[in-house]
Amino acid sequence: MGRAKKVVLAYSGGVDTSVCIPYLKQEWGVESVITLAADLGQGDELGPIQQKALLAGAEESLVADATTSFIKDYAFPGIQANALYENRYPLSTALARPLIAKLLVEAAERYGADAVAHGCTGKGNDQVRFDVSIAALNPNLKVLAPAREWGMSREETIAYGERFGIPSPVKKSSPYSIDTNLLGRSIEAGPLEDPWTEAEEEVFALTAAIALTPNEPEYVEIGFERGLPTSLNGEALEPVELITRINDVAGRHGFGRIDMMENRLVGIKSREIYEAPGLLALIQAHRDLESLTLTADVSHYKRGIEETYSQLIYNGLWYSPLKQGLDAFIQQTQERVTGTVRMKFFKGTATPVGRRSLSSLYTPTLATYGSDDTFDHKAAEGFIYVWGLPTRVWSQKLREP
Ligand code: ARG
Repeated sequence: MGRAKKVVLAYSGGVDTSVCIPYLKQEWGVESVITLAADLGQGDELGPIQQKALLAGAEESLVADATTSFIKDYAFPGIQANALYENRYPLSTALARPLIAKLLVEAAERYGADAVAHGCTGKGNDQVRFDVSIAALNPNLKVLAPAREWGMSREETIAYGERFGIPSPVKKSSPYSIDTNLLGRSIEAGPLEDPWTEAEEEVFALTAAIALTPNEPEYVEIGFERGLPTSLNGEALEPVELITRINDVAGRHGFGRIDMMENRLVGIKSREIYEAPGLLALIQAHRDLESLTLTADVSHYKRGIEETYSQLIYNGLWYSPLKQGLDAFIQQTQERVTGTVRMKFFKGTATPVGRRSLSSLYTPTLATYGSDDTFDHKAAEGFIYVWGLPTRVWSQKLREP
């Protein structure tokens, strides 16, 4: 008896996930492997990938266009939450995982599979995100992760694959581990494992080196409705088109690179290089619009919620009761986050330089230092007396003999 009869495998076309196909069948007694490749805008051609899976022994090879859902249902809530893990990483890889898990579970249910599988190793966050998301969506499905157990080196994996007709990578394989989708790229490993070594220019694909960026700034007006980006320069755009265009502009001006040491959930510190030009620019713009339209207390309280929300996305808890509760809070706060932010892109920066909204809470007659000032200056004195009273009492007490 094998570990499972019929398995739906998350498939990328790479050597590791390809080797999973014969491995599941030969070593773990799986009778039938169905692969599923999700298009998240990684720029691969899915036709050849589909063929590759069949050649490696998949019974069926599914391809799902998930781009719209990825941006609308996963990236946009992240933007509304200004989600940045450890204050920096906009979760461009992490946000894709719950969606892939959902597609796997749906396919497993459709094909009557008793398990789903993925090619993650035991050291990363992605395995956690897959396993926990799958458990949340269908606790009866088994999750198989061959690469967590097989203990093969890169060379051994390639050799194993060759025995089953999986061609070894044609190009001399890159030393980096790279994950790409519409939101950006995550780059790890190789020379980057030394935290002191600067990333070579060649690791970047979406962002220009500052030396090559235009010498003129570029302005883009980003329109939001209830916290969701809906237009660029007044032109209404579908989510995928919008992220694609803002990636282009921001990337051209060299904005959106991150070089950081990161705390993985499994306890390991890791060196990460990211580029996520569009997503980071949208978060900057969104946060700016919130500063115009949210009251001070909501805005300040939301910062704490954002921190928790970012952690739970990172830690694989997208489908969890805490996430649902925080979503309700965040959605409520976005009711009036509608308006436009003017962003300036120049030499590696994306700066909000103008903002307007019909829901703006900015009141010129209160803020002005001019003659049309309506603020009651005398009221400030009584306010300060009461506000400062505890401090005054404390200070007096200190001075008592
Ligand atoms: N450290 C990032 C994260 O956990 C990026 C992971 C990249 N994944 C990969 N399979 N290369 O979200």
